Amino acid sequence: MLMRAIALLCLTLYLTLWGISPAQADGVDQAKIDSSTQLWETSAHALNEVNCSSCHQAEQTQAFVAQPGVESCQTCHEQAVDTFLLGKHGIRLLEGATPLTPAMARLPMQAAAQDWQMTCNSCHDVHAVNTVQAATDSCLGCHNDTHSLNYQNSRHAELFAADSNLPRPSAAAVSCATCHLPRHEMGTGDNVFTQVNHNNTYTLLPRDRMVKDVCMNCHGAEYSYNSIFDDDLVEANFDAPPTLALESFDLVRAFDARRTDQGTE
Ligand code: HEC
Ligand code: HEC
Ligand code: HEC
Ligand code: HEC
Ligand code: HEC
Ligand code: HEC
Repeated sequence: MLMRAIALLCLTLYLTLWGISPAQADGVDQAKIDSSTQLWETSAHALNEVNCSSCHQAEQTQAFVAQPGVESCQTCHEQAVDTFLLGKHGIRLLEGATPLTPAMARLPMQAAAQDWQMTCNSCHDVHAVNTVQAATDSCLGCHNDTHSLNYQNSRHAELFAADSNLPRPSAAAVSCATCHLPRHEMGTGDNVFTQVNHNNTYTLLPRDRMVKDVCMNCHGAEYSYNSIFDDDLVEANFDAPPTLALESFDLVRAFDARRTDQGTE
């Protein structure tokens, strides 16, 4: 309650300073200010003293911005912005075009989402910045193809649901983001830390990049390859163990057997 009062006071003072009352600022209404404040006050941002003005004030001109864009996140989350701009989701912004929308898609998308614009806000509620919600629920707000919809029936989804009350998705669970926005280790020496790679095209090209970067954190190579090259199993979003038996693994086994035989002769 106190946090909320302080936030409101700050915003009001702040807007008044620039000669606009909150109610008038580009048609921002009180109900929106209240709901934004409520979401913000228990967020990682509030805990780290990232305030309304951190995002709602333009750096150069100091002007009030009602609907900040990707650039408002950039100063603090450079890596997230840079990687986002390289994937299918963000590349239009990198090229200076309008944001991607589901209406432009080749894949099936939710009817209600046709005009949603793809920015940082599309997956993260920018005031709650909840990463659990961003990891699957947000995706299904737009994606409506068989593979995406089948995720909910998978063992992976079961594991994710069991852990989803944590503030951050558990590393032991598998969300859409585990496969499509993988965590990467960055830095060197004592300063190794994990960051999310927001390039949603990265693990798709080449297709077996996902095997090494994602699956093999938990499964063996053969299990992973046999799963990922089975189109039906991908379509079903991995709802059963793989039945494919890639010939190359038999070849490797045969080769290995021959080598071992020679070695023991
Ligand atoms: C992490 C950055 C960030 C912080 C911190 C933040 N906001 Fe926002 N806010 C945004 C973004 C981005 C949007 C635009 C959302 C969209 O387009 O869907 C927005 C939208 C809004 C809106 C709706 C504006 C409109 O015209 O629809 C209100 C009201 C608002 N914020 C109030 C606040 C208040 C009050 C605080 C502090 C308690 C706050 N925000 C903190 C990023 C932030
Ligand atoms: C003034 C710096 C600053 C700005 C601007 C900022 N953030 Fe943050 N953000 C932080 C800090 C500090 C944290 C908490 C530490 C961390 O996780 O890195 C954080 C955490 C987050 C998290 C993780 C939340 C969690 O629960 O772990 C997300 C998601 C996020 N920010 C998104 C955004 C988005 C989207 C924007 C732009 C609309 C934005 N941030 C703008 C500083 C900032
Ligand atoms: C605002 C809507 C929206 C949200 C939210 C969203 N996406 Fe997308 N996504 C799209 C659109 C539009 C495309 C382009 C599809 C096309 O061109 O057919 C796309 C493409 C993709 C692709 C294909 C990339 C490529 O290079 O072909 C993947 C993978 C993907 N999204 C995964 C996700 C995941 C995972 C999430 C959640 C963490 C998510 N998306 C959230 C709209 C969205
Ligand atoms: C397609 C959905 C999606 C979009 C778009 C998206 N994020 Fe994220 N983001 C996620 C998910 C999911 C996680 C948590 C994944 C995990 O922890 O496994 C995350 C995590 C984060 C984190 C905390 C982890 C870290 O690497 O520090 C930050 C900060 C963040 N996002 C910022 C941003 C910013 C800034 C943008 C816009 C450039 C953005 N996100 C766009 C889905 C998205
Ligand atoms: C266990 C890993 C895994 C999970 C979990 C997962 N996917 Fe995928 N996804 C894949 C693989 C593998 C492909 C196919 C790559 C290919 O065909 O080249 C794929 C393809 C896609 C594509 C691109 C389809 C196309 O034809 O271009 C989209 C979009 C997508 N996934 C969205 C999602 C969403 C949304 C979720 C969660 C609801 C999700 N995925 C969960 C592994 C996963
Ligand atoms: C964070 C760990 C983790 C990651 C990463 C992961 N999985 Fe899994 N996966 C599991 C667990 C745990 C199970 C459940 C095993 C069980 O039920 O015995 C599972 C089950 C499966 C199943 C069998 C589902 C069933 O119903 O029997 C397949 C197929 C599968 N994973 C494929 C993949 C593929 C392909 C990838 C990479 C794109 C991947 N997994 C990434 C942990 C993971």
